[in-house]
Order: sequence, then structure tokens, then C-alpha cells
Amino acid sequence: MMKSLRLGIVGVGGIGSAHFNCVGGGKISGMTLGAVCDIDPERLEYCKSVYPDIPRFADFDDMINSGLIDAALISTPHPLHAEMAIKALGRGLHVLSEKPEDITVSAARRLNEAAERSGRVFGIMFNQRTNPVFAKAKELVSSGALGEIKRSVWIITNWYRTQSYYDSGSWRATWSGEGGGVLLNQAPHNLDLWQWICGMPSEITAFCGVGKYHNIEVEDEATIFAKYKNGATGVFITSTGDLPGTNRLEISGTRGIIVIERGGLVFKKLKSDEREICFSEKRSWFEPELETEVFEPKDSGGAHAEILQNFANSVLYGEKLIAPGAEGINELSISNAAYLSSWTGGAVSLPFDEALFDKLLKERAAASSAKAGGGKQTHESYSERWQVRF
Ligand SMILES: NC(=O)c1ccc[n+]([C@@H]2O[C@H](COP(=O)([O-])OP(=O)(O)OC[C@H]3O[C@@H](n4cnc5c(N)ncnc54)[C@H](O)[C@@H]3O)[C@@H](O)[C@H]2O)c1
Repeated sequence: MMKSLRLGIVGVGGIGSAHFNCVGGGKISGMTLGAVCDIDPERLEYCKSVYPDIPRFADFDDMINSGLIDAALISTPHPLHAEMAIKALGRGLHVLSEKPEDITVSAARRLNEAAERSGRVFGIMFNQRTNPVFAKAKELVSSGALGEIKRSVWIITNWYRTQSYYDSGSWRATWSGEGGGVLLNQAPHNLDLWQWICGMPSEITAFCGVGKYHNIEVEDEATIFAKYKNGATGVFITSTGDLPGTNRLEISGTRGIIVIERGGLVFKKLKSDEREICFSEKRSWFEPELETEVFEPKDSGGAHAEILQNFANSVLYGEKLIAPGAEGINELSISNAAYLSSWTGGAVSLPFDEALFDKLLKERAAASSAKAGGGKQTHESYSERWQVRF
């Protein structure tokens, strides 16, 4: 049996270099750096300056054909994820992809099918699933402690970004290079958690504010209304233009309410189900008796390192993945449906018309204006960016 997994990282930019330093620094047991790949010579120079002995490739095919790696970590711009992952799986490699799985549900579907056929481990970097407050909410919902969900509201507007961020890479915030804005770049974590905890909606209506706060051609604000099969409703609001923003998730169920805010979770639990109370209680209104559970985890979880460790353990010992790659299609279905709704001006049922979505996205990509951009982000400030803030 393989004792150690040799990881090849493709895309050693912002997040890729964080993974490079983490694995290269020996922080993941059973995982070593096998090789790195980037089309930008400067990024390869950076890799050389940190770990001169790690083989470097300018071409992805050369890296996956080198025999030097057992798994590929894909941290290139999103539109390359599915294509690269499918190639790597085809070479018999295990794959860990950065989020989002790709930019279209159709591409994610192709990748999921390839992963299924390959029998290899396929994970996705939904690092916020390791945050204990979200895991706790999931447990309260799936155990039935919250009863049946009536409504969820997530206001996640503290993904603030400046114009300088948007100018830091020519692929950013363009239909052709990134395939979307806040819904594709920052919010996938939250959209994934939303569906992980509350399940998948059956219908989406959305309003996207395109270039509302920045000089960009994609959305920097989105408001999504969701309907679920059981009649529940949901609202998801995100923005990169609010300063300060907020991060508050409220899930209301027939047995009480969960609020996640400021890094903690409060569960106000009713003594019995509200649906029974409503039809058995003789008073017209009353203050309910509640049990209040307060959950304040001591830290925010293992984040990216925990996902990397879990991926290594899954390949080496069959550990269950925290974020199976195939689940990447769920949050992408929500964001694709949100775009489709905002472009067509109506409600979109899930599953939606993927061919229509791909056609409309292609039209936008064809009209996409290449950005002057060019400035490079600093990798020091980068390390702060991904963190869950409350
Ligand atoms: N999980 C997280 O917390 C998290 C955080 C940030 C970014 N991400 C995701 O990681 C991905 C990369 O984001 P980033 O901010 O690091 O971008 P970035 O632009 O800083 O880095 C991308 C790197 O990929 C390289 N690249 C592009 N095309 C390539 C190719 N064909 N072959 C090899 N290398 C290529 C670029 O040269 C660059 O160095 C995005 O999909 C993003 O959504 C995830």
C-alpha cells in the first residue's frame, strides 16, 4: 500500500502557494510535494526559491504524465478545473479541486461522471465545512432537532473586495476568464454550506447587481430567493461591496431557530413542535418556553489543512471525505440558476436548462472585455482573505 501521497499542485498563485507551503512544510501527514506546475515563470521561480528540489513544470500534461505524482491539486482559475481534473483522473491520479468545481453545471456533471468511472478519490476544497459552527448546524438539522425547516436567511456580505483586488489578475471578474463574480468566486463556500445544511432548493429567483460597486462586468452583489420541495423558503444575500459587511445565518424550523453569528451558534429550542402548538394551544399568543443551547467553538476548525489531511487519509486509508468532489455540482446549480434567473427575469426550476445556460454564458464570454489588470496580489495579504469572518 502507498505510504505517502505525492501531490502535484497546478496553479501556484494565491491559494495554490498556501497549499504549496502547507504540504511542503510537512504539515500534512502522509502527503508530500511531488511536483508543481504553473504557466507563469515568476510563480515557478517562487517555488524554486522556497523548495528548490521540487520538480517544476510549465505544462500540466507534462506534470501529470511525469510519474512523479499520485494526486493533482487543481488551484488554477475556475474555468480550468473540470478540464484539468478530468485529464488527471484519466491518468489514474486522485484529484483535489479548488472550489468551485467549474463554472457550469454541465462541466461539473462531466467531471463527476469521469470521477465515478475512474474509481479514484475526488475531493473539493470546501474548507469552511470544517468550521465547527456549520458542522453543528448540519447536525441539528439532519438529526431532526430543529424539526422541519421553514425558512433560512443568510446575509453574507463581508466578502468585501477593493478595485485593486479585481485588478490583481486579468482573469478576475470577467465572463470569459472567471465565468461570474461574487457567486462564483467568494460565495461558493456559503452556497455549499447552505445546501449542505438546508438541502437543495427546487426553484431559484435572483437579482444580480452587475458592476454595482466596482468597475467589473460581472456581479458584485446578489440576492437569491429559494423555494424548497417541502414549502420552505430561503434568502441568500451576498456582496463584495459592503463595508463593514455582516455574516448571519438564521434557520427557522418547526422545533425552534438556529442563529449563527459572530462565530457562535445559538439554538432556541421549543418544548414541542410549533405545528402541534398552533392547533392545540387555546391562548392566542404566548411567550414560548425555550431551551437555549449556545455553541461557541474554541477555534474555527482546521480549514484547508484539514481538507488536505482528510484527502490524504481518504486515498491512503479510505477515510470518508468531508467534501466529496461530486457535491460541488450542488452549489454550482444554485449559482448557475441564479444567473439564469437574473438574465431571463423569472423563476428557474431545478434542474434547469443547462444548454440554455451555457449558451447565455457563452454570449457573455464572447462580449467580455479583457482587463488591463496585471497587478499581482501579495501572497502575505492573501492568507487573510479566505478566512471565515463574522
Ligand atoms: N478554498 C479557498 O479558500 C480558495 C481561496 C482562494 C481561491 N480559491 C480558488 O482557487 C482558484 C485560484 O484562485 P487564486 O486566487 O489562487 O488565483 P491566482 O490567479 O492567484 O492563481 C492562479 C494560478 O494559476 C496559474 N495558471 C493559470 N492557468 C494555468 C494553466 N493552464 N496551467 C498552469 N497554471 C495556470 C496562474 O499563473 C496563477 O499562478 C480559484 O478557482 C479560486 O476560486 C479557493
